[in-house]
Amino acid sequence: AADGLAATPPMGWSSWNKFAERIDDKTVREIADAMVSSGLRDAGYVYVNIDDGWQGTRGPDGAIRPNEKFPDMKALADYVHARGLKIGIYSSPGPMTCAGYIGSYGHVEQDARTFAEWGMDYLKYDLCSGEWFYSSRDEVQRAYQQMGAALKATGRDIVYSLCQYGRVEVSEWGRDVGGHLWRTTGDITDDFAKMSDIGFDRNPKFGNAGPGGWNDPDMLEVGNGGMTETEYRTHMTLWAMSAAPLLMGHDLRTMDEATRAILSRREVIAVDQDVKGAQGRVVSKDGDAEIWAKPLSDGSVAVALFNRGTTGRSISVAPGDAGFRSLLGGRDLWRGTDVDTNMLDFAVPAHGSVMLRLSGRH
Ligand code: DGJ
Repeated sequence: AADGLAATPPMGWSSWNKFAERIDDKTVREIADAMVSSGLRDAGYVYVNIDDGWQGTRGPDGAIRPNEKFPDMKALADYVHARGLKIGIYSSPGPMTCAGYIGSYGHVEQDARTFAEWGMDYLKYDLCSGEWFYSSRDEVQRAYQQMGAALKATGRDIVYSLCQYGRVEVSEWGRDVGGHLWRTTGDITDDFAKMSDIGFDRNPKFGNAGPGGWNDPDMLEVGNGGMTETEYRTHMTLWAMSAAPLLMGHDLRTMDEATRAILSRREVIAVDQDVKGAQGRVVSKDGDAEIWAKPLSDGSVAVALFNRGTTGRSISVAPGDAGFRSLLGGRDLWRGTDVDTNMLDFAVPAHGSVMLRLSGRH
């Protein structure tokens, strides 16, 4: 949307990947605290998003009320805001959410006002059960348009996440309905095969990402235990190269140092958050080796070398991969060291990646 929100891809945390329905007020507060104490807030992660499972019933006036696990949403929002963070909530255009809680059907404007009154800064609007009501492109678009307009009418700055799994060409109209990000695929799971399928093969097919509106290949799984450290670094590299929203999905209270280090790597985050807002794309492919490039606002280019295969191999970068005639300098973003631009030949482990930032002459 052209309202100045989400000028760069949203960063934060969401409850779903780790907790699913086992989410409550106490856990959200503890995650907010951990976001601050771990340094992740200062690395750029600001949204603390409650996903499905918070809803109770509607009151006599039709207003949605949280269930017993969330005694006071306004107080929770105040707690999160007091830590320099923002808070997000979740609903569905259908009568029911995917997990079977009450959706916003028939109460769209009222729910938008309730979320704004609670102090919500982000809404994820999940097509679940809406898909039985809204099947054509026009119907889905109208459902998302209705909530987009309702959020705008509240006068509060609310980032609007369209969760409809890349259906009916959402990247073509997501911005027009007030959306700031839109899912491009079904759900991620915590394994290398699914993560790669989404990140390498599906998400890149969607265009139109840029400041104010982003393709969303789903939340991060870094730290959830199903991938190796090397694979999680590849997950982070791929999302940063894709200018994807960086919504962590693990338990920040118990994460290890390797997880914290991957998620808070400043030079990698800077590529994701670059103000030019270009979505990186594959520039060369040789079997399991892929080289991706993402042009950055200062004229340099982020270049990622991926080994999708199950054995280590070497991958070489040529200046032309970054669109340059010759190279002037470069950084290895995971190592945090300068690279010798005459020796851009890297040993990349199985499922691994190398991430560079190169400058050069055209
Ligand atoms: C489907 C979405 O894609 C997930 O991210 C999550 O929000 C669940 N629905 C919740 O039911």
